Amino acid sequence: MHPMLNIATRAARRAGDIIVRSLEQRQHLRVESKGHNDFVSEVDRRAEAAIIETLLAAYPQHGFLGEESGQHSGSSPFVWIIDPLDGTTNFLHGHPQFAVSIALKNMELDRLEQAVIYQPLSQDLYTASRGQGAQLNNRRIRVSNVTQLSGALLGTGFPFRDDTYLETYLATFRSLLPTCSGVRRCGSAALDLAFVAAGFLDGFWEFDLKSWDIAAGCLLIQEAGGMVTDLHGQGDYLRTGHVLAGNLKVHKHMFEILQNCLPSSVK
Ligand code: IPD
Ligand code: CA
Ligand code: CA
Repeated sequence: MHPMLNIATRAARRAGDIIVRSLEQRQHLRVESKGHNDFVSEVDRRAEAAIIETLLAAYPQHGFLGEESGQHSGSSPFVWIIDPLDGTTNFLHGHPQFAVSIALKNMELDRLEQAVIYQPLSQDLYTASRGQGAQLNNRRIRVSNVTQLSGALLGTGFPFRDDTYLETYLATFRSLLPTCSGVRRCGSAALDLAFVAAGFLDGFWEFDLKSWDIAAGCLLIQEAGGMVTDLHGQGDYLRTGHVLAGNLKVHKHMFEILQNCLPSSVK
């Protein structure tokens, strides 16, 4: 394992331990609202602090972008992109789908280098290093080989925080739902993307995500032989947060359908 991935894995496990130990006490946690339907608990903050402490102890010159602590630049081109708890709403309800997501980006080369998504309840660990493939619990994973939408299981996320993309999203949902064998909404975009990389889902789409929701998952999918773009098939998804992912065939079929129902203003 690449040394930087090794450190990221250690950081993700530390955060996962904090999250799992807090699960039983979740009714007593301090929870604040950052916006409509956007909650942060003291567990998100403690998990992020543990991740940053672990990463910076090994790489003090690196920068980081954490969902809860914002952007801190270092003296090197490497920046860690951290979602300490993806699926906070699930966690607060005791719903078991939540994960830690950590990616390393080289800002000079504008490319993702390392990725970890850790599901602490199952202890499933998804990892990828650029050019080295993707693994689940150290075993190589590939995207699925489903070729048609009619046999495809798709993942998605709903625009539940504001209605900017609600109508557009519903149009995409209406177009895709009848074409495939089912649509799942798990409540953690990081896990959705990890599931595409592992072939548990054949495709995924969602609007308006943040880079910490998707950075690790996007590298995982690419290293597992899949495709990630924005909804118009372009590469700006880390910035726009509009994501279309899948194996190559399913991605292509979804892309064709989306072009017929998306306004050109939504990139
Ligand atoms: C959320 C989850 C969810 C997605 C939201 C994200 P959070 O992250 O990934 O699946 O639909 O848009 O914000 O807030 O639980 O870290
Ligand atoms: Ca998130
Ligand atoms: Ca989060």
